[in-house]
Amino acid sequence: MEHGHGHGRAMTAEEVRAMFEAPAWDERYGGAELVWSGNPNPQLVAEVDELTPGTALDVGAGEGADAVWLARRGWTVTAVDFSKVALERVAEHAAEQGVEVATEQADVRTWAPPEQTYALVNSQFMHQPPEVFTGLVARLAAAVAPGGHLVVVGHHPKDLESPSIGRPPVPEMLFTAEEVAAQLDPAEWEIVAADARPRQIIGVDGEPVTGHDAVLHARRR
Ligand SMILES: C[S@@+](CC[C@H](N)C(=O)[O-])C[C@H]1O[C@@H](n2cnc3c(N)ncnc32)[C@H](O)[C@@H]1O
Repeated sequence: MEHGHGHGRAMTAEEVRAMFEAPAWDERYGGAELVWSGNPNPQLVAEVDELTPGTALDVGAGEGADAVWLARRGWTVTAVDFSKVALERVAEHAAEQGVEVATEQADVRTWAPPEQTYALVNSQFMHQPPEVFTGLVARLAAAVAPGGHLVVVGHHPKDLESPSIGRPPVPEMLFTAEEVAAQLDPAEWEIVAADARPRQIIGVDGEPVTGHDAVLHARRR
């Protein structure tokens, strides 16, 4: 189960900014044996379980639980992250599970994947400032092949209403599924899901608490 981010005091703007840069992620992934559970994100499983495997791009792949889960189900996966340590973890976990996952180190603020290429583009908990996020969603959507799927999941802004959930104090970096859906041309995209889904997590007090995931799943026509 996911744990909230507890800091015990208000973070300075500089600390918040540093949290979103590659060295902070390298340190985070390099320190603990596993930062996350190693299980795939539940919203990925819910949205993708029934799909026929093809090529997949996992953007902001972290330690690779989603990428490895996809590869085990027969997807041909490329995991993208700007943290070198994260990508080393992806490769280790893939090898442990006897599957191959290609890795690509890239900063998604500027990187553009090839257009209309992937049967699935998955991005889970990739939080960026709005001016970056809008361009990122456009590039991720552009990378989806005709008939392919776009899955974008994040912490829902309503999580900030419950301090015990312990989300970082960056309201501008949280998004709703509807905001992502609004970027997609209805002539080109069918919205499969645009939800705020409840999920039990362990909050900063160590107690279970209900958070919400913003879940956007769209299919290119
Ligand atoms: C909250 S983690 C989510 C990891 C994984 N998707 C999961 O759900 O467990 C966010 C990931 O995005 C990566 N990331 C953050 N900003 C990035 C950027 N500008 N370019 C590439 N990767 C980035 C971080 O290194 C981290 O692995």
